Amino acid sequence: MQEKILILDFGSQYTQLIARRVRELNVYCEIHPFNHFPLPDSSVKGVILSGSPWSVRDSRAPFPDLKGIKGRLPLLGVCYGAQYLTHGYGGEVMASDTREYGRAKLVKVDTSDPLFDGISPGTQVWMSHGDTIMRVPEGYIITGSTEDVRVAAFRIAGENTWGIQFHPEVYHTTEGTAMLRNFVRVICACNADWTPGSFVEMTVNSLREQLGDDRVVLGLSGGVDSSVAALLLDRAIGDRLTSIFVDNGLLRKDEYESVLDTYRRMGLNVRGVDASAEFVEGLRGVDDPETKRKIIGRIFIEVFDREAHKVQNVKWLAQGTIYPDVIESVSVNGPSATIKSHHNVGGLPEKMHLKVVEPLRLLFKDEVRRVGNAMGMPAEILGRHPFPGPGLAIRIVGEVTPSKLETLRDADEIFISGLKKNGFYDKVWQAAVILLPVQSVGVMGDERTYENAVVLRAVTSTDGMTADWSHLPHEFLAEVSNQIINRVKGVNRVVYDISSKPPSTIEWE
Ligand code: XMP
Repeated sequence: MQEKILILDFGSQYTQLIARRVRELNVYCEIHPFNHFPLPDSSVKGVILSGSPWSVRDSRAPFPDLKGIKGRLPLLGVCYGAQYLTHGYGGEVMASDTREYGRAKLVKVDTSDPLFDGISPGTQVWMSHGDTIMRVPEGYIITGSTEDVRVAAFRIAGENTWGIQFHPEVYHTTEGTAMLRNFVRVICACNADWTPGSFVEMTVNSLREQLGDDRVVLGLSGGVDSSVAALLLDRAIGDRLTSIFVDNGLLRKDEYESVLDTYRRMGLNVRGVDASAEFVEGLRGVDDPETKRKIIGRIFIEVFDREAHKVQNVKWLAQGTIYPDVIESVSVNGPSATIKSHHNVGGLPEKMHLKVVEPLRLLFKDEVRRVGNAMGMPAEILGRHPFPGPGLAIRIVGEVTPSKLETLRDADEIFISGLKKNGFYDKVWQAAVILLPVQSVGVMGDERTYENAVVLRAVTSTDGMTADWSHLPHEFLAEVSNQIINRVKGVNRVVYDISSKPPSTIEWE
């Protein structure tokens, strides 16, 4: 049985980060909502309570029943989790006079406590809370303090329970990983058995068991997730997996041919389908971004379904769903508004009447990459920037036409190959060129021009949820701008997007 750490989510923006840190220590963990979690069985070696935007003083705040956990299993409360472990058990939590955000130093730290074994006195920690613990219940031992916060950390005597008011999972807590290591590896005594190699072995075995002699189809996108899913399935069932790669006519320059070629070299049983005319025709006259997404999603389902039916006796549809899509989220302010619909092909399994198999549903994105790497996936796929399912259609603001696609492809190719040549590609999380429906006056030679403007967009990010614009050198941007204006017909102006997300988004549509 795979041993694990259970993380109870109280809605903090950092909960997934706790999970990723634990997994980086090669320990498997699962996130469950505080109000809906499985009773721990013998595979659960310890529990972490996450932070939360709520205050424990609010009567609507989460007050889960920790019976069967507290005092029985190793337990670590982080921020709200620590406040809950005091407030809920006879201590006192108050609104802090000085709201405690940002860096602080653990001026007092009990390094004889197993959680702080090997931690340096004065180590930097990251605080992010409006409340503070004023008084701990009887039997609690204070194990760490900062200048302003007397109860920065505590443990409960005679129990395997700890609380810390700072966030060990964030980068600014310098020795946070060491603390988490002490908790999961020493206190919870987890083996470090969650590795890419063990994941591949476990998944290939369970896929074989689950699929038997059945046939499976999978849609490849050229991205990391679907490609790693295909490799795992290929290893499990070989040619009983048919992968389908659709050219929707909205890919980058020469991408269809080169990606298809890479898949073939990887030994995948892949079919390429050129449906570009169908997509481009379907998009004619449409300028609303969400309508474009819906049309592309619908045509993809039609094309994929048609193609999949050419494979005899298919029983399963494989999807590259990853863990963040699966985690049940804790909603703090009610359902959030749809800003962009990113799920392009929802409805495919229903339409096709197939069972769904999702080999990556336990993995975070960074783990998918590591698994791909362990299976020998070529760097050209593993290291690729994310690319949206609707492709260049959402990078042409307004109506998509064949000639605009050609213009955008040429400009995009100059920018992306420039990033690669100059060693910037891997430093940027995602880069794109956007074609605007804006014309402006220019002058070329003696002639006045009235042509299109394109935007260069490059961002740094870890997950696409937040992003900063990349501070690319001006000389490089100047070179790309020159090349685009000189070589791409119909473009006489290049601008660089210096907006971060939020409040902007990465794509323009
Ligand atoms: P935004 O523009 O919301 O993008 O900041 C965040 C990330 O999501 C990608 N994106 C999409 N991916 N279908 C996709 O598969 C979509 O409709 C879509 N819209 C945006 C975007 O490229 C970035 O990586």
